Amino acid sequence: MSRLKELRKYVDAEINKMEDPDKRTSAIAHLYGVSLAATMIAKKRGLDPEIASMAAMLHDLHAYKTGSYDDHAHKGADLAREILGELKLTDGTETDMICSAVYHHDDKLVEDSPMDEVLKDADVIHHCMNDLSKPIKEKEQARFDKLCAEFGM
Ligand SMILES: [Fe+2]
Ligand SMILES: [Fe+2]
Repeated sequence: MSRLKELRKYVDAEINKMEDPDKRTSAIAHLYGVSLAATMIAKKRGLDPEIASMAAMLHDLHAYKTGSYDDHAHKGADLAREILGELKLTDGTETDMICSAVYHHDDKLVEDSPMDEVLKDADVIHHCMNDLSKPIKEKEQARFDKLCAEFGM
């Protein structure tokens, strides 16, 4: 089994513990949607698509597990480190890269490392493109515009 598949199996099991079926469905849709977007963006920018995809699978897990978005990116990075330590799928550098991306993913108005930026952009792609009838959030508009230019959309 690929390590991405192994991580997804773990994440699926965690999400399946959520009681509300609608929240479960949107959690899965968001994590897998961001994961696919992260793969595409990383590939386009010459970064590791597998690491990007793994970071995406973990990025909002803390919020889904606790039901709170309060400081979920920073707390989520600690949770990601715990999970990756347990699953032993990544080396130290890869773990650091994934945890950094999760840690910074809510800081959409500043620029961080290239892999951090992949996760932020993938998150924005899913927020903005999952349902085109929904208005784009003000804090995501500039980033979305940049992405449309980069991808010729
Ligand atoms: Fe988030
Ligand atoms: Fe997200």
